Amino acid sequence: MSLMAFLDRWADVPTYDKAIESARRAVNAALRPQGVKDLLHGTWLGHSLHPVLVQVPVGSWVSAGVLDAIPRLRPAATVLIGTGVAAAVPAALSGAADWSEQDVGVRRLGALHALANTAALSLYVGSLLARGSGRGTLGRVLSYAGLGIAGGSAAVGGHMSYAQSSGPSHSATAARALTSDWIDLGPLDDLPEGKPALRTGKGGSVAVPLAAVRRGARVDVFVGACAHLSGPLYEGAVEEVRGEQCLVCPWHGSAFDLDSGSPRRGPAANPQEKLEVRMEAGRVMARLPNRHR
Ligand code: FES
Repeated sequence: MSLMAFLDRWADVPTYDKAIESARRAVNAALRPQGVKDLLHGTWLGHSLHPVLVQVPVGSWVSAGVLDAIPRLRPAATVLIGTGVAAAVPAALSGAADWSEQDVGVRRLGALHALANTAALSLYVGSLLARGSGRGTLGRVLSYAGLGIAGGSAAVGGHMSYAQSSGPSHSATAARALTSDWIDLGPLDDLPEGKPALRTGKGGSVAVPLAAVRRGARVDVFVGACAHLSGPLYEGAVEEVRGEQCLVCPWHGSAFDLDSGSPRRGPAANPQEKLEVRMEAGRVMARLPNRHR
């Protein structure tokens, strides 16, 4: 069985769900208030923070592995290992924040990812202690073992992102199915005031759900699938979040600025795809903006 087939199978195994749920609750209790979680999600950045932060430990540890192969550069390798150990802490916190808002299959693989990363980090800490006490050979054995485990764990993380779609913007994926034509969403007067309504847009072969929000004579139209995990935004609510009128997802509470689509509250880190709108004889017309054509 290939590693990827094993991971797919692992994502279906419910054996450890109770322990995983306890860990999820502990993460949610520790990462409070919501502002802390949003900082770790990358909501303020408009991009997931975890893949940005992991560059530092991964890059430091890979570089240390190269420098350790050259005897006169080994002191520099020790510095890089220490850098990686320090940088692993914020990377782990941002990963834990994202993991706590994922669906069950991703959480199962994420638990494996976290265990492997903890093992790798422990080996690197052991390596630093060994190097500090003059046992350089042991230090190098421990750090190369840590590198191997960290590499395997990175493959698990990649599988979560790419095969399980835990990281990409689901609204951008849904937007790709839309044609670039103007879509007639019906009369303005048919839209309820101040709450999202389901409309559909022309896709290549399927209708794409849209969420339309009317505020007086103004209408904001978004792709209906939430950027976080495809939650139905047209079943959400309009609320003021951090001083802005937002469309709030009913699944995990992500809030998107009605004016811009930018995330104002996580777990979403990516903006929500927004359509251009114009009025034509009292009817609402919408289409994807130019960047999609
Ligand atoms: S699907 Fe998670 S916040 Fe919308």
